Amino acid sequence: MKKDLVILGAQWGDEGKGKVVDLLSADFDMVVRYQGGSNAGHTVMVGGEKFVLHLLPTGILHEQAIGVVAQGMVVDLELLVKEIEELEKKGLKVWDRIYISDRAHIVLPYHKVLDSLFEKKGKIGTTLRGIGPSYMFKYGRKGIRVCDLEDPDRTYQLIKENIEFVSDLCEKVYCENHRLDAQEVFEKTMEHYKRVKERVIDTTRLILDFRGRVLFEGAQGTMLDIDMGTYPYVTSSNASALGLSNGTGLPPKYFSEANFWAVSKAYTTRVGEGPFPTELKDATGELLRERGGEYGATTGRPRRCGWLDLVALKHAVEVNGLDGIIITKLDVLDAFEEIKVCVAYEVNGKRIDHFPASLSLLQRVKPVYKTFKGWLKDTRGARSLSTMPSEALEYIDFIQEYLKVPVVMLSTGPEREEYFWLYEPAWK
Ligand code: GDP
Ligand code: IMO
Ligand code: MG
Repeated sequence: MKKDLVILGAQWGDEGKGKVVDLLSADFDMVVRYQGGSNAGHTVMVGGEKFVLHLLPTGILHEQAIGVVAQGMVVDLELLVKEIEELEKKGLKVWDRIYISDRAHIVLPYHKVLDSLFEKKGKIGTTLRGIGPSYMFKYGRKGIRVCDLEDPDRTYQLIKENIEFVSDLCEKVYCENHRLDAQEVFEKTMEHYKRVKERVIDTTRLILDFRGRVLFEGAQGTMLDIDMGTYPYVTSSNASALGLSNGTGLPPKYFSEANFWAVSKAYTTRVGEGPFPTELKDATGELLRERGGEYGATTGRPRRCGWLDLVALKHAVEVNGLDGIIITKLDVLDAFEEIKVCVAYEVNGKRIDHFPASLSLLQRVKPVYKTFKGWLKDTRGARSLSTMPSEALEYIDFIQEYLKVPVVMLSTGPEREEYFWLYEPAWK
């Protein structure tokens, strides 16, 4: 039996990973977040109560699970402390179950200043959480890791140099004044560090030595992956399976026994700028947004909506080496007389079956659709295959035949128990 499980986003994020990871975490002993940062917003609904997790692994809501914030993340320590405290206030014990990587980089106020500044020229539509600039500093070897905070003098020096660099850039290139106070940033950072210090360890070793079952929780989605997504309209980490090894510090071989599943909505959404071939800028798109409650869990921005794009989804299957797909929000399609699915793209009469790298090509592709008859029946909260309308099952069958990967689970509502298995795994 395969031991570990990887859950990824198959689209442009917000697929419902939080809901799915939460319900699956009941069977796992450790849950690991390993890339991205507080740009993520993972929603879980339990008995009408809403939890939105940004930095903590979603599985932390299950008290048997140990949580890990692994090295590939960029961590805003202030937000992390706040998130843990909020859960503690709700009665969940988190402090004694959470481990934070000593190698993770931290997000600082000057990263956020740069994030907003960059957005003024060549807008990506970021979450303004300082994610891109933190990774820039990391790869530019000017980043500050959690373990570096053990050396306050060096930390202060680095903060001071980085603030000078950012301030100069603001003034000279953008003609804006954003001079932060290095002493203040340093003191606040050390304050937040004091709160988490006890929980900082080498998380790679922790996972390697762990004997229980581990669930790895991807943030964002494959199409936002820095290498495999719609560059430059992506996030700054490897949000696909490519990010697992560097995000955890575990050797690629570690994952050879794991199950790889990705979550996809029954349609498509995206927040921010960038190509979206099946986007609907009409009443149908509006209906998807309203029925799906498609507003960002982190920024509240309305999500762009469109039909399911199987060309993009096939790309996710291939890049991630998926063993299964989980389809969420099927219930949102209950009100549509017709449902379309993109099966190929077309440019100047030429058919394209694979997701292209070129941005200019992607901006010109026209989707080729297959149309399905809608079921016009209520599937919200459905918990078994036998209660599903035949049209909905035809839709799901077509998806798995096209992708050549089984749809293992259907989610039919935001609540924890609103789902059912199509292929129940051996461990259930
Ligand atoms: P994530 O970032 O992938 O975790 O997804 P988000 O939490 O950002 O967005 C998904 C939204 O869809 C949340 O509001 C969920 O509560 C909701 N959701 C998840 N699964 C379902 C489902 O099957 N049906 C419906 N109607 N809503 C769902
Ligand atoms: P979860 O984990 C949806 C998008 C932003 C923007 C681009 C870059 O909840 O699925 P960034 O702030 O990362 O530099 O922004 O990526 N984005 C997300 N979209 N869900 C997310 O996370 C996202 N995280 C980043 O909207 O287009
Ligand atoms: Mg989200």
